[in-house]
Amino acid sequence: MTADVRTDEVEFNVGNIQGNILRGYRRNFVRYLMLEVTDRSAARRFLADSVAGGTSNVPGITSAVIWKQRPTYCFNIGVTCDGLAALGITQDQLATFPTEFTQGMARRAMKLGDFGDSAPENWPAPFDQPERVHVVAAIYTDAQQDLDALQDQVVASFNLLGVRNGRNLAGNKVFFGYVDSISQPRFNHVHDPDQIGVDEPIDPLGTALLGYPTRYERVRFRIPEPQELGRDGSFNAFRVLAQDAAGFESYLDRAATELLAHPDVDQLLTPGEEWRIGEDLDRHGALREIVAAQMCGRWRNGMPVASSPDAQQPDPDNPVSLTNFDYDRMSRCPAGSHMRRVNPRGGPIVQRIANYTRRLVRRGMSYGPDFDPANPDDEERGLLGNFIGANLGAQFEAVMCDWLNLGLQNPDVTGSNDPLIGANTPETSWFDLSLKNGGTIRLRGFPRFVTTRGGAYLFLPSLPAIRHLSELTD
Ligand code: HEM
Repeated sequence: MTADVRTDEVEFNVGNIQGNILRGYRRNFVRYLMLEVTDRSAARRFLADSVAGGTSNVPGITSAVIWKQRPTYCFNIGVTCDGLAALGITQDQLATFPTEFTQGMARRAMKLGDFGDSAPENWPAPFDQPERVHVVAAIYTDAQQDLDALQDQVVASFNLLGVRNGRNLAGNKVFFGYVDSISQPRFNHVHDPDQIGVDEPIDPLGTALLGYPTRYERVRFRIPEPQELGRDGSFNAFRVLAQDAAGFESYLDRAATELLAHPDVDQLLTPGEEWRIGEDLDRHGALREIVAAQMCGRWRNGMPVASSPDAQQPDPDNPVSLTNFDYDRMSRCPAGSHMRRVNPRGGPIVQRIANYTRRLVRRGMSYGPDFDPANPDDEERGLLGNFIGANLGAQFEAVMCDWLNLGLQNPDVTGSNDPLIGANTPETSWFDLSLKNGGTIRLRGFPRFVTTRGGAYLFLPSLPAIRHLSELTD
């Protein structure tokens, strides 16, 4: 990554950008601190020291510049609308921010499918008092023992409302058993050496950063005022998403049992080909994996269903890219799968103009105890997810609402929710498995597997913007 590149008539300095926007740090642990600004001067002093590189008592903000030596920790912050006000941004200036951000995540609940158990009224502290969550600070490290000391440094200047700890599960998996963190947008002028093996199409910088052209006819999202606050910033939907791993595994059992009795099951799995799904799998076990794969759009080992619809193990003579693939009308990856809903790539969708415009940077780690499918339990566990982009409304909310939960992108899936993470109920849920002969088998009756337990819409200020916040005087 080089500094000061000229891109589309504007200067781009990677040293101005918070690192978690453009880089996956690939650390083992993360701790999120939900903070309230109760002493404005102390908070501003903290920001001044932090953006200047840190002191022995204040962690330094990590920028997107490639480091020569891997630091022991990385540190980034996001600020809510109430947080900007608490730091001294005026109401007139806040009014230049997009409405969805000024309203905050809890008030956008219906757009996000946050109702029933997922409703903000049911979110545990500190998200039950969203107006008090001002800053969410993230500490990333490989050494878990560093977390407490760094937390102490931060809370010396803020009121600590809550803590969430995340960690990488073995094999980079999420609790539903899939390998995650495979696809990630790539950007013009940004080279991330930690993005290993990602070769998907490159997106313009304006997808994730304010101030640069986007794929929307090269339109730039409006930069909130003042410019030194808004430019080079980004927005983040921070979500605490509980995963019902036991419920998911037990549904796979039920679906496989039903499929065994279905007259068209051989069009889903040719008898004798179970080994192509997994060496030790019987027919029931292989059908479970097919259901899991088609619901996600990837086999649980990460292989894209679009490229390898009938086999989890790639043919060694025909290696396929894990990230650079596409969908066409004949694709066997169901249009209703999680992957095709959240990123239809170049595939056929009703809103053709929206192809590739809602790309989200994803930074996530799991929380909660390990899950053993052989000994399922009811402990809370899930994903601490960050969905980052230059515009929450045009990107994150549009994905969550139009594509994920309404299925407006394709009349064949309109009226159904994302099977993996959507706001499903057993009474109304359905999902079409795609068959070898072009037909489908419709699954029904599955519950919601992912429940929202909190979150916040955050502005991710540039380093100059953090300096600006630290220098406010009123
Ligand atoms: C607990 C909740 C979730 C789980 C378990 C989950 C799981 C997964 C998995 C296993 C993959 C495939 C791995 C990869 O491509 O890196 C994936 C991809 C993806 N997910 Fe999720 N996801 C969750 C929530 C979300 C949400 C809320 C969004 C956005 C609104 C989202 C957006 C994406 C995107 C953009 C991709 C990449 C698609 C592509 O590049 O083709 N996910 N997810």
